[in-house]
Amino acid sequence: MGCSHLASSRANSFALGATLSSEITMSKSSQPRLRFFAQASSQRHIPTQDQYLYRAPEAKFKIAIIGTGTIGQEHMRVATLLGRAHVHGIYDLEQHSLDAAQAEYSTYSARALIRYKSLTQACEDPEVDALFICTPNFTHFEVLKTAVHSGKPIFVEKPMATTLADAAAIVQIANEYSSFIQIGLQYRYKAQYVEAFHEALERVSLGKVKTISMCEYRPPFLDKVKQWNKFNEYSGGTLVEKCCHYFDLINLMAQANPKRVFASGGQAVNFVDFEHEGRRADIDDHAFVIIDYENGVRANFTLNMFCPDFVEEMVVTGEFGRLLATERFDFHQQQAATASISLELGENGASRTTTLGYPRVVEQSGHHGATYFEHQAFFDQLEGKTADCATPLQGMWAMIVASAAQESMRSGQPVAISELIAREKLARLLAGNQE
Ligand SMILES: NC(=O)c1ccc[n+]([C@@H]2O[C@H](COP(=O)([O-])OP(=O)(O)OC[C@H]3O[C@@H](n4cnc5c(N)ncnc54)[C@H](O)[C@@H]3O)[C@@H](O)[C@H]2O)c1
Repeated sequence: MGCSHLASSRANSFALGATLSSEITMSKSSQPRLRFFAQASSQRHIPTQDQYLYRAPEAKFKIAIIGTGTIGQEHMRVATLLGRAHVHGIYDLEQHSLDAAQAEYSTYSARALIRYKSLTQACEDPEVDALFICTPNFTHFEVLKTAVHSGKPIFVEKPMATTLADAAAIVQIANEYSSFIQIGLQYRYKAQYVEAFHEALERVSLGKVKTISMCEYRPPFLDKVKQWNKFNEYSGGTLVEKCCHYFDLINLMAQANPKRVFASGGQAVNFVDFEHEGRRADIDDHAFVIIDYENGVRANFTLNMFCPDFVEEMVVTGEFGRLLATERFDFHQQQAATASISLELGENGASRTTTLGYPRVVEQSGHHGATYFEHQAFFDQLEGKTADCATPLQGMWAMIVASAAQESMRSGQPVAISELIAREKLARLLAGNQE
């Protein structure tokens, strides 16, 4: 993967994030800062080289957001903060979601929003340059099938689908699509993983990577519109819905395809008595997953979703050392997240621990800043620049690991990926899509 691109785009964006902070915090209480921003930008004698305080970015593009729940609103916020695109219109099946998104939008932007009456209208608006699909997992494939008639660049939230059959169909659609489809696997842009990829894969500080160990400890799934995330049928299962992020990271770090997956897990604490419309929640809340890769790399992943706060860690060990990337977010004390990377290189190198962070306004815009850099990558790709964006194929590989793990949890047996691929009839598609 092109980590150097990630690093350099991040460096450029630091300045952008800082520049834009006065725009995104626009509210009645921050009017003086906003006035300063507006006055400063209108002064003609400003040196053009001064990109840190005065230069407002030009929004070249217009986007439409399809699904304006939690993440749809995050994308509206982030797009506005980044400033490379305006949110032109929104579409959702629920009036309440539209109202909530518009109300939040009005706290940081004075621009009008079109409310589309239908999905087709949202996708076909000639003013709009790109579409962001932010609906629940089980709807992605259907919404995408309408969206591709537009021929526009499309962003689809993770997981790309709830079944491997639909994921494969999306990869096929993307292969034949005149524009591009990007999947919302943005954890790769979190500061600690950008650095981890850089150390392990570009600087090769650890020598050859041999083992990868990841974990996420966090509180239960949040409320969603119609509670779709409490049911395997609508989410694809916890490991597909939530953990596709981590399987994507592990796949990228392993630099190989998975060979065998074994997992154990279930529903221990969360939502055991939860019912929605007479149906009992069936969503898992903990799991242990072991993955063997074709190149000999071994990995494991631990999930626990009945913890008070958020902690995620990646430990990578190679021939010459160990790397630990961490992120902690004290949810209850509402403290800013902290992230760091530690390198333990013994006598062969300089061991060190580095605390990492993006500008506060970027971090607070969503997912600790990762969504901001995901937008950078999307609009870079839209402008024809090289960008490290999650492809549908990468999205499918993350789902392959997740689906194998869920199957293993059900059967109690290890799952050979070659057998899963044969059973799901993915062999031909994968053979034609070597990355
Ligand atoms: N990348 C990330 O880190 C991240 C984080 C959160 C959610 N997500 C993903 O984003 C998607 C949405 O999650 P959310 O948390 O915003 O859920 P949500 O329930 O908060 O919002 C989903 C919205 O989509 C609307 N919707 C449902 N079906 C629709 C349709 N056919 N057409 C238009 N609108 C429709 C709902 O009314 C709701 O407003 C999911 O796929 C989820 O996995 C990704």
